[in-house]
Amino acid sequence: MADIITARSLVKRFGKVVRTEVLHGLDVAFEKGALTAVIGPSGSGKTTLLNIISLLESPSEGELVIEGRDFSAGDINRYAAYRNAHIGFVFQFHYLLPEFTALENILLPYWIGRGRPPAPLIERALSLMKDMAMLPIKDKYPNQISGGEQQRVAIARALVQEPKIVFADEPTGNLDRETGSAVLGIMTRMIRDLGTTLVIVTHDREIALKADRILELVDGRICKDFRLAETGERAARELLEDRSCDFEDPNDGGG
Ligand SMILES: Nc1ncnc2c1ncn2[C@@H]1O[C@H](COP(=O)(O)OP(=O)(O)OP(=O)(O)O)[C@@H](O)[C@H]1O
Ligand SMILES: [Mg+2]
Repeated sequence: MADIITARSLVKRFGKVVRTEVLHGLDVAFEKGALTAVIGPSGSGKTTLLNIISLLESPSEGELVIEGRDFSAGDINRYAAYRNAHIGFVFQFHYLLPEFTALENILLPYWIGRGRPPAPLIERALSLMKDMAMLPIKDKYPNQISGGEQQRVAIARALVQEPKIVFADEPTGNLDRETGSAVLGIMTRMIRDLGTTLVIVTHDREIALKADRILELVDGRICKDFRLAETGERAARELLEDRSCDFEDPNDGGG
């Protein structure tokens, strides 16, 4: 399949006085319709990479092409319209607005961008709620529903406009394991049904092993990148245990 996102030589630096380079020239592409799990130690640059390829933050250097459109340079705010229409987000903490019901929260991104949602969109929101067994809570407020339900609302909110790409940064990080994997199972099934491209950051190996591809970041570089269909699950598990990286250790003196 064709790539929906292509990034070349991505560099990200933070700070004006003390400059810290967090991504050191990443080359990475994501196939349309594929589920990619991004793993790696804390501070390895996973969120930074996700924020850049989802147009939330601009790279310091490098090229970024999404669906054939060049997003490499320029003011990130100019990309907001594209981002709102084509990209869905699920974060670790759901960011539901407390003064709106579950259904209203799902429709909120549309409301903010374009005003009163049309009837077909409301239908789609209700149909997603039905698929995720949420109809009984549709008129409840976030503080009246459980953490797992809140996260399902956030997933429905990310999917309701049928975005082409969904980015999820540890979407079940604040749920217990069982609820987390149930919520994630629902999310991946819906995403596969819709043919949506998913890039998901996770600390959970079992979740990563359900993706099509695993991308491991270590210290701002791609340490491993493999497809489950090619390696098989057993070799994938071994690869996840293996602490070595495909890149040469820059501290290793080239030996
Ligand atoms: N806005 C910022 N200003 C300065 N440094 C930052 C900023 N955002 C991230 N960093 C630094 O960049 C590095 C990578 O951060 P990032 O959040 O991408 O890591 P991560 O892999 O998502 O980690 P975690 O698993 O803990 O979420 C860290 O060292 C972090 O301190
Ligand atoms: Mg992170």
